[in-house]
Amino acid sequence: MSLAEAAIRVEELTRELNEYNYQYYVLAAPTISDYDFDQKLKELEELERQFPQLLDPDSPTQKVGGDITQRFHTVRHRWPMLSLSNTYSEQELRDFDERVRKAIGNDFEYVCELKFDGLSISLTYENGVLKRGVTRGDGIQGDDVTTNVRTIKKIPNRLKTDGFPDLFEIRGEILMHRAAFQRLNNERIENGEMAYANPRNFAAGTIKLQNSAEVARRPLDCFLYFLYSDNRNRLFNTHWDSLQAVKSWGFHVSEHTALCTSIEEVLAFIAKWDEARYNLSYDIDGIVIKVNDYGQQEELGFTAKSPRWAISYKYKAEQVETLFQSVSYQVGRTGAVTPVANLKPVLLAGTTVKRASLHNANEIERLDLREGDTVFVEKGGEIIPKVMGVNLLKRQPDAQPILYPLLCPVCGTPLVRKDGEAVHYCPNEDGCPPQIVGRMQHFIGRKAMDIEGMGDETIETFFKRGLLHNITDIYTLTDKQDELIQLERFGQKSIDNMIAGIEKSKEKPFEKVLFALGIRYVGETVAKKLANHFKTIDALMAASKEEIQSVYEVGERIAESVTEYFAIALHRQQIERLRQYGVQLAIEEKEIQRLGDSLTGKSFVISGVFEQFSREELTALIESHGGKLLSSISGKLDFLVAGDKMGPSKLAKAEKLGIAIISEQELLQLIGS
Ligand code: IVH
Repeated sequence: MSLAEAAIRVEELTRELNEYNYQYYVLAAPTISDYDFDQKLKELEELERQFPQLLDPDSPTQKVGGDITQRFHTVRHRWPMLSLSNTYSEQELRDFDERVRKAIGNDFEYVCELKFDGLSISLTYENGVLKRGVTRGDGIQGDDVTTNVRTIKKIPNRLKTDGFPDLFEIRGEILMHRAAFQRLNNERIENGEMAYANPRNFAAGTIKLQNSAEVARRPLDCFLYFLYSDNRNRLFNTHWDSLQAVKSWGFHVSEHTALCTSIEEVLAFIAKWDEARYNLSYDIDGIVIKVNDYGQQEELGFTAKSPRWAISYKYKAEQVETLFQSVSYQVGRTGAVTPVANLKPVLLAGTTVKRASLHNANEIERLDLREGDTVFVEKGGEIIPKVMGVNLLKRQPDAQPILYPLLCPVCGTPLVRKDGEAVHYCPNEDGCPPQIVGRMQHFIGRKAMDIEGMGDETIETFFKRGLLHNITDIYTLTDKQDELIQLERFGQKSIDNMIAGIEKSKEKPFEKVLFALGIRYVGETVAKKLANHFKTIDALMAASKEEIQSVYEVGERIAESVTEYFAIALHRQQIERLRQYGVQLAIEEKEIQRLGDSLTGKSFVISGVFEQFSREELTALIESHGGKLLSSISGKLDFLVAGDKMGPSKLAKAEKLGIAIISEQELLQLIGS
């Protein structure tokens, strides 16, 4: 294949894979099998290996967040991870009960458990130490995600008690609580990153990340619900007893588990949780019913796919029908336009629903939504429910399609949509009110300048009154106290409080200021990296796209966004004003924790998995001794710190360029010398 042909194919595959990822993660509606996805990904990887010049840092092969199954080692399960037969009907549950009775008689109990809506995981412990965490995969073999599993606080790395078997496997469900999902997803939306459709997808996407530090940042939980070991039946007679023991060994076992002696009791448990599930802080999608006694489980045995001693009852996702009235288009801080359906109010899962999310123009098209349609609305993990589909039987024959606006609904500027992106943007960054207000609200936010005594509403009021036009005006409020006191609900005390908050924000470190500017794709972590690398805003403003991109883990998309931001004269003027007001635009010398200078002037790339240190620890180690981290291997690089499982193409490239390849031990020696 020629380079030109390869380039075309790479572009084609990239576009397709990005779309599949979007369908999988955002819409939670994949249109391709995992296998076919993997085949395409492999093809792309192979092309990128053959033609390294075609490797884009934004390629789906490089992206964290993509379900890049093949980047993990495949491990065979010692005990296959079977699924359960499902039912939605009471009658089928009674049939299941009948079958059980026929096989083992009437003397038995059921254990009823919540069916957690996450992803299943199998953990192996040897002598009380966590050895491996493997995803379900195809049930026979799964992905070894041990490094990521180790970051989950609820999963013990070492058991503190004794009495457990020398070797056992324990199975459970990894999930994300709704509140964390909401918070992190909002953060992603604000940073212009892909949002996840529900907590399950977020958890699944997280456990497959290549960067364990990012996994650690996302709070995951894990409920354990099944024990396997060779000598299990000698230790316990029943599943219930095993759960109690497992809890005492330090595992997180749900307290919402019940022993039932009849199918009526099981049905009562199901009915109770059908209501009560909305009070849980995480999603469940049903109830699992297991025959308690191990001996009886063995008697019942398995079908090809699932045990005969267990079944899951699934709750129907609560769905209602209602009239779709109109679409509102909301413009966010980054200019991203989000369509929201206004609905005839309807009761759904205990709350009155008036609005539902439509995501973007593609989604409206997929639904083929028309004016006056009757729609199905479902409550998923999000607070705002989702339009799932249209009831075509109720469609008026002359119903008109929804036309996506060409102009910003607030400021009238023509909307733009970048190639390959699903979202429309209003490009009028500095003239579109919701963007200006949103940026100021972001600026004062807790993770940014953290200005006490000022809130989102204050910003809105001040903006409407013409007291604030952009972020820098916040520092002029000190001189506008006469005007402020005229405002309703603004007493001297709250003004004093706010002024003190504004003054205090001038002490916020440079990285917070950089984050507060609200540059697209510059989230907290990136802001920190850029601040540490460039040290001053002047150096960052003077840097080329390539220089910015050479910072460890900063990609082309971010670099482009940063240079575009500083290319705008208005932004540079704003920086000058912030400087005059005394805002921190450089790292204070004492902020850089310097432990030594032995690596000054040397550049490093870290790749692979290490024994002694995590990648983050190695990064800190290098930076604190004056070294710089680069994101990719080039002729400019001094050292490649290579661990296990490092990609062969990287290694080959480094060898070809004659770059020194060192181990973590050798890095330590370098620091020591
Ligand atoms: S028991 C052989 N218990 O549901 C026993 N599974 O459809 C297998 N799940 O793959 C599993 N909560 O991911 C069991 N309390 C629970 C569960 C549970 C959620 C998931 C699990 C499994 C799927 C089966």
